[in-house]
Amino acid sequence: MFRVVRKREWHPTITELWVEAPRVARKYRPGQFVIVRVDEKGERVPLTVVDANREEGTVRLLFQKVGKSTFHLSLLNPGDAIADVVGPMGRPTHIEDFGTVVCVGGGVGVGPLYPIAKGMKGAGNRLISIIGARTKELLILEDEMRAISDELIVTTDDGSYGMHGFVTDALKQVLDRDEKVDMAVAIGPAIMMKFVARTAEPYKVPLIVSLNSIMVDATGMCGACRVSVGGTTRFVCVDGPEFDGYQVDYDLLIKRQQMYLDKEKEALERFKRQHPEAFQGVC
Ligand code: NAD
Ligand code: FES
Repeated sequence: MFRVVRKREWHPTITELWVEAPRVARKYRPGQFVIVRVDEKGERVPLTVVDANREEGTVRLLFQKVGKSTFHLSLLNPGDAIADVVGPMGRPTHIEDFGTVVCVGGGVGVGPLYPIAKGMKGAGNRLISIIGARTKELLILEDEMRAISDELIVTTDDGSYGMHGFVTDALKQVLDRDEKVDMAVAIGPAIMMKFVARTAEPYKVPLIVSLNSIMVDATGMCGACRVSVGGTTRFVCVDGPEFDGYQVDYDLLIKRQQMYLDKEKEALERFKRQHPEAFQGVC
């Protein structure tokens, strides 16, 4: 069992847990994720690792409550235990001193972006970070992103904080400057990564995106997480989660992410009837 040691509610729909998982903490590198099962009957859910504390033997998990399992997980408090935390999974990010790197994070995608941005800064890059959310209340990790960035631009879709607009609007402004950008990394909803690719392509900046497709076994066997990259089928769990941002078929990814929506909705409704307390403050 994996004990929860700290908890933070960023928003009624976004929760952070620090969980004891010493072996995962020891091996984790930026870009990797874990598979979590809240109890023995729970489904396997891929979750972002935002940080790892090797001395304490803990990992920091951050997730959006979207389905039954993430709402269930959000009910856990310090002292409670999670049945399984398996990982670290996936290939770590290739980090080196590229020169100037722009890191773009949308919504909860800022969670997995943070350790990569920190790694890029640690490798000697000039780091320009762009983080965005629909509204000020949904913005996460602003202080931590500011602390590691040479420049941080914050956007909100509704203009309630920072620049009014999408992260792609800020990205275009950065790319239009008289400053060479050597690498871009984007993590967020698939539609955001699709438009980041469209925005960056004319500037010929290499682009890495991190995909979060539906996963079942996370071993490359079941095919649930398959995506099309450069016309070839790839498995996000073992070949990714990062891919060349210009080669991903985002429309197919979005279609596959919505495949089980009806079933997910049914399971969520059942869970809501059993645990109304998990939905406090959630519209
Ligand atoms: P969201 O819908 O609130 O969007 C976040 C930001 O992305 C927006 O503020 C905007 O700046 C940008 N964006 C959205 N649509 C855009 C568009 N059409 N063009 C340009 N920019 C756009 O995001 P959210 O609700 O926090 O994110 C939820 C999604 O993120 C989930 O579907 C989840 O699967 C995904 N997610 C992805 C990862 C990953 O590793 N890729 C990790 C966590 C979550
Ligand atoms: Fe089964 Fe990736 S989750 S192949």
